[in-house]
Order: sequence, then C-alpha cells, then structure tokens
Amino acid sequence: MQPYSPSNLVEQLSRNSTPYYDPLAKVHWELLTTGQFWLPHEAISLYGVPQFMDLPPETRRRLSQYEFLNFVDAGLWLEGIFMERIVHTMRSSRNSPTTLRYRLHELREEAGHSLMFVELMERSGLAIPPQRLPRFLLADLFGRHAPMESAIFWLAILLGEEMPDRLNRYLRRHGQDICPTIVEISTAHVIDEARHIAYALEVLKDRLPGLRLPARFILKPLVHKMISQFVELFYYPSANLYETAGLTPGTRWVQAARANPLRAAFVRRCLEPTLQLLRDRGFHLNWHGPAA
Ligand SMILES: [Fe+2]
Ligand SMILES: [Fe+2]
Repeated sequence: MQPYSPSNLVEQLSRNSTPYYDPLAKVHWELLTTGQFWLPHEAISLYGVPQFMDLPPETRRRLSQYEFLNFVDAGLWLEGIFMERIVHTMRSSRNSPTTLRYRLHELREEAGHSLMFVELMERSGLAIPPQRLPRFLLADLFGRHAPMESAIFWLAILLGEEMPDRLNRYLRRHGQDICPTIVEISTAHVIDEARHIAYALEVLKDRLPGLRLPARFILKPLVHKMISQFVELFYYPSANLYETAGLTPGTRWVQAARANPLRAAFVRRCLEPTLQLLRDRGFHLNWHGPAA
C-alpha cells in the first residue's frame, strides 16, 4: 500500500495547531457543579418517557451527569486507541516530515482531551461503572490492527471523531441552561476535532477512489456495523449506569430508552450529518434504530 502523500491542507492544519491551547488549563474547573444539568433535557436518553419525566429534577439531573461521564469515558477509550497507533507508527521511515508533524499535533491534542476527561471524572466525584464495550467491537479491531494507510482504518477514525463531535456540537448550541464547564469541555473538543476530521477526510479522499468494487462491497456492512456499535456506546447507557445514577432496576430503564421514540429521533438528528458525509463518499447507509 502506497503511503499517503500529504497535501497542502495538512501543512495548514499543522500551522493551525500552533500555538497549542491546553484545554486542561483553559477550562474553568471552578465552575463545575453537580447542582446543574450536564446535558440539555432533550439529550438525556429517557427524555420524554413519562415515568422519567415524573421523577424529581434532582434524579433527572444526576442521570444527565452520569450520561455525560459515560460519553466522556467512551471518548477516553477511543482516544487511547488512536494515540497508541500514532505512537506505533511514529518511527516508520514511510512518514514524511509533514505527516509526522501533523500526527504529533494530533497526539498532543488527543492527550489534552484525555487529560481534560480524567480531570472531569475526578472532580465530579461521581464514579461510573466500567465501560460496557461490546464483545466484538469493530472500531477496536480496525483502530488497533488495520494498516494505518488503509481506508478502513481512516473510516473507523472518522466515525470515532465525527459521531461524538456531533453530540459536542449539540451541547455547544443548546447548552445555555447546563453547567458552563461542560459546555467549555465540549467547545474545546469541537475546535480541535474540526482539524482532526478534516485530516481524516483528506486521507480518505486519497484512499477511497483506489478501492475496487468488491472492497467497497465488503466495507459497507462493516461501516454500518461500526455506526450501530458507536450509537449503542454513546447514546444507549447500560443497566449498570442507570442503577449507579439511582434508577432501578436498570434493565427497565434500558428498555424504556430503547423504546423511546424521542431518543431515536435525537440520535437520528445527530447522526444524519455523519451519514451524509459517508453517502457523499459512496456509502449509502441509514440507521434504523437501536438493536432490539
Ligand atoms: Fe479528542
Ligand atoms: Fe480527535
């Protein structure tokens, strides 16, 4: 496989990453409080479910905090995979200085995000249950093992950046009534992710046209499966998480979220721009709701 030859855009992205703004130092941690919601109401998985809407505001607020932490925890896992791959390929003689420089910027920025997530988790004083990762997670498989020059690696990275980014953008736009520190965290992430997504799209612009029809045919269901797995991870909390937030029995609330039409509509709205990006690149995919 031919190494990717970086375009002028990559030089530009590296210039835009300089100087580095450390999110850990930039976020106003002193404003972090569990006395406010951490998600807008519509972004909570049980929003609109009558039994949930009847619960006291403190209980609903606590769930918003656990759901945001769950989202951040998934981000921490994803960024770990990406950083690991960048480090492993750093010494490859196939990297041009432009590629190496850009990837180091990404490494620094992802490390900054992860530090910000760890800080949030620690300061929140809320412990979330261990991440419920599906047994066979495709993003994990491709993120760790697919060649870094391959289309499937960059499709996995694009989805892993794009899908959480859409939720972060939503929080920026609709976060007037939530804890300002959470909006700052989402904003710091969105600013860096714009460059990371631009880079992933740029590599895919180079990789996708070379794919033959049989390869595309194989890739399509894999990309579709990756999207469904990310949706499960980011948008449908586990029974454990509901129970930790005080909603018992957790399984009942899991079913309520999965049957919640407002949740499916919210997910669809967040997902649509990502699906459109893929359609523009020849992958005609839709999301048909959470797995039964
Ligand atoms: Fe990140
Ligand atoms: Fe990123």
